[in-house]
Amino acid sequence: MAQEFIVTGLDDKGRGIAGGQFVKFAFPGDLIDLEPVSRRKKTSRLVRLIEPSPDRQEPPCQYFGRCGGCAWQGLKYQAQLKFKEARVRSLFGDALPIIPSPEEYYYRNRMDYAFGPDYSIGLKDGKFNIINIEQCLLMSEASNKILSRLRHFVSWKKLLHYKEGIMRHVVIREGKNINNMVLNVLTSDKGELPLEDLWEKLRDAVSGITWSINLSPADRSYGEIQKSFGQDHLIESLCGIMFKVPVQSFFQTNTHQAEKLLEVVRDFAGLQGGETLLDLFSGSGSIGLSLADRAKEVIGVEENEAAAKLSEDNARLNNINNFRSIAGRVEDILQSLEGRFETIILDPPRPGVHKKALQKIGQIKPHRIVYVSCNPETQAHDIKLLEESGYQVKRIQPLDMFPHTPHIENIILLKL
Ligand SMILES: C[S@@+](CC[C@H](N)C(=O)[O-])C[C@H]1O[C@@H](n2cnc3c(N)ncnc32)[C@H](O)[C@@H]1O
Repeated sequence: MAQEFIVTGLDDKGRGIAGGQFVKFAFPGDLIDLEPVSRRKKTSRLVRLIEPSPDRQEPPCQYFGRCGGCAWQGLKYQAQLKFKEARVRSLFGDALPIIPSPEEYYYRNRMDYAFGPDYSIGLKDGKFNIINIEQCLLMSEASNKILSRLRHFVSWKKLLHYKEGIMRHVVIREGKNINNMVLNVLTSDKGELPLEDLWEKLRDAVSGITWSINLSPADRSYGEIQKSFGQDHLIESLCGIMFKVPVQSFFQTNTHQAEKLLEVVRDFAGLQGGETLLDLFSGSGSIGLSLADRAKEVIGVEENEAAAKLSEDNARLNNINNFRSIAGRVEDILQSLEGRFETIILDPPRPGVHKKALQKIGQIKPHRIVYVSCNPETQAHDIKLLEESGYQVKRIQPLDMFPHTPHIENIILLKL
C-alpha cells in the first residue's frame, strides 16, 4: 500500500529521506507516494510524485530514473551545490562556498560501459541490468558515436555479452585538453576479440584500442592486457603538465575541475620554493608534479607500484627533476622516512588515512597539511586526530567533481 510523505532531506548516498525511509530519485520538498521495498534496509520506492519540489528540474537525460549513473539529475544544479555545501558545513561547522564544476554535463574523461544482451552497451540500472545507452551526457558526443559504432561492430561479428559470449566491458578515455581518445575492450578468456578488424573500423576516430582479458568473476573493468593497436595510453594535461596515462591507470576524472582543485591545493600549500613536500597517496602524481616548481623537492608515496612508476615517468616527460615517488603504504613508509618535511599533502581513498600514519605526521610536525578528500565523513574523523596533535583547521574548500551525483571533494588546510 502506497503512503504519502514529504521528503525532508538527503542521506549520504544521495537518496531522499521521507518518513524515516530512504528513497531513490526523491528530493527534499517533494510530496510523494511511497511503497516499501525493504524493511530491514528502510528503503522505499517512489511510486508517484504528487507535488514536485521547487528544486526539481526536468532531467535532460532520457535514462534518468532507470540508469544508476546520475541519481541527482532531477535536481537543479544550484540545489545540488547547496546540499553538498550543507553536508560539509554540518561536518566542519564552516566552509568556503563550494566551487562548481566548470561543466555540468560532458565533464568526464573516462567512462566504463558494460556489454549486455542483444548487443547492448551501457550502464547498470543499480541492479544487474544493462541499459543500452545511446546518448550519455557524461563524456561527449564523440564518445556516444564511438559507442554506437562499437555496437554495430559486436552485432556484425556476433560477439555476445558475457557469459553467453566473451564481451564484458569497454572503457573509453578522452582528453579534454588534448584531443585524443583511447579504448580498452575487456573480454573473458573464452575467445578472441577481432581487435585488428575493430581497429580498422574505428581508427579514423580513436587514437588507440587495447584488448584486455578479465579472468575475475568480479564485474570490474580491469584485466590482463593482451594487445594494442595505436596508442595504449591517454594523453591529457592538467595545469600545463602533460600526463601519459596507460589505459588501465587511475587519473583524475573531471579534467577541468581537477585543474581547479590543483589551484586550491597550490594556494593552501603556500610554498615559497625552499620546502620539501611530501605528496602522500600520490597516485599518478598530479598534485606533487603540479607543485614541483614551487618546492625544493617533492616526494610521492603511493601503494600502487605501477602508479608510482608512472608518476616518475610523467615527471621526466615534463623535465621535472625534483620529484620522486616511493612505492609502498603511507603508514609503513612514513615510519622510516628521514628528513625535514615542511608541507604534507594527503589525498587518501575513501576510508581515509591509517591511524598509524596520522600519529607519525603528528611527530613529523609539518608547518602545513593540505588534506584532499573524496569522503568528508572519514576526513572529519582524521582531522580530529590531527587536532589532537596540535593542528588547527584554517580553511575548508568543498568542490564539486561529479555533478548529478552525491559525491563531494573537500580540501582542508591545517596549520600548527
Ligand atoms: C584518491 S587517490 C589519489 C590520487 C592522486 N592524488 C592523483 O592525483 O593521482 C588515492 C591513492 O591512494 C593510493 N593508496 C590507497 N591506500 C594507500 C596506502 N595505504 N598507502 C599508499 N597509497 C595508498 C591508491 O592507490 C590511489 O592511487
